[in-house]
Amino acid sequence: MTPESDPHIDIERLLSRLAELSEIGGIDETTGCSRLAFTDADRAGRELVLTWMRDLGLEVTVDGIGNVVGVWRPDSMPEDARDLAPVMTGSHIDTVATGGRYDGNLGVLAGIEVIETLATEGFVPPRPLAVAFFSNEEGARFAPDMMGSLVYVGGMGLEQAHNTVGIDGATVGEELDRIGYRGPAPCPGLVPHAFVELHIEQGPVLEEAGIDVGVVEGVQGISWTEVTIEGQSNHAGTTPMRLRHDAGFAAASVATFVRSLARELGHPQVGTVGAIDLHPNLVNVVAASATLTVDLRNTDNGILTGAEQRLHTHLDELATTEGVAVSTRSLARFDPVVFDSRVVDLVEAAARSLGATTLRMPSGAGHDAQMMARVCPTAMIFTPSHKGISHNPAEHTDPDHLAVGADTLLQVMLDLAGGGWSRP
Ligand code: GLV
Ligand code: MN
Ligand code: MN
Repeated sequence: MTPESDPHIDIERLLSRLAELSEIGGIDETTGCSRLAFTDADRAGRELVLTWMRDLGLEVTVDGIGNVVGVWRPDSMPEDARDLAPVMTGSHIDTVATGGRYDGNLGVLAGIEVIETLATEGFVPPRPLAVAFFSNEEGARFAPDMMGSLVYVGGMGLEQAHNTVGIDGATVGEELDRIGYRGPAPCPGLVPHAFVELHIEQGPVLEEAGIDVGVVEGVQGISWTEVTIEGQSNHAGTTPMRLRHDAGFAAASVATFVRSLARELGHPQVGTVGAIDLHPNLVNVVAASATLTVDLRNTDNGILTGAEQRLHTHLDELATTEGVAVSTRSLARFDPVVFDSRVVDLVEAAARSLGATTLRMPSGAGHDAQMMARVCPTAMIFTPSHKGISHNPAEHTDPDHLAVGADTLLQVMLDLAGGGWSRP
């Protein structure tokens, strides 16, 4: 265990902020929330978190994609330390439409909590610390996911990001202007000294193993494809089966193919058809068209690429056998990411020094840290998710686990800043 003199975060303050933020876009009779990127709810969430950042005295900037970075340079920080690259933490505060209160929000609010704890204790870091929230991590409204952090590290240009059309027809640029978050700070943004992100696991591994803290060694590759199928609408009662060009059947065939493909390839391959739109979507009409999404993920890029090829072969065969036209559009494609082993080691050591049990693991979900890993030493800390449930209002992590995760974040940020902490 850590000596008494080491600072610990205030779990009650962190829980109360998580609860207050979750009320914005709160989903009735649940603890979850709905704050899709660049909506009014996202704007209201941003305002609240910005207030907490400003109250802490952080120097806050907003960039051209709406990423918000708050840098902590205490007044008593020596002049030569002020200009050093900060140790940064952060995550996102947008959610899926049926989200929980922890996904992303934990990483941002724990970052604020770490800085508030250190400021209250009178610590002066040897280099600045920063906490960020990146825009549109979820990608549920505007693909790809991790858009804000991708733009932050220069992986996507601002113009391309602004022109992205969402599922409701709006563009990122219009929505940024509407909510007042197209800021002046440049993209790519300030390169941190190092980056570490605290996040809920969003899967069952830690809870099933009875482990307190996940030491995240990397993130699996992600492939999102939108498939459009054009068939022919016709009468459901009179059209013989041999004459059908049924977009609904073809969409269902893609969904079952993706499931069998993932099972055949085995762990860690996963495959999901999460969205299907049929037209005209009527009981007695053979569907004329279908648009669906395929999400494929694997830690092995070769196997992931093979899965993508198998999907395309299936689509070609379907076009022939059902007599439909099939087209595809890539919505997101990110290679697997391996985190910096030095930061991974620091996470493990910090968690253990707090008396926590640890497990090294990959991340199944996408995270802003995987983008930050392109520009600076990066790793992540996971806390257990109850029953492995996430992207669901029922998402839950026990307060004890939130506390040890946030204390681990604090320790790692201190370590990355180079130690040498001095009380006044
Ligand atoms: C983001 O949450 C993703 O992994 O889809
Ligand atoms: Mn997340
Ligand atoms: Mn998410």
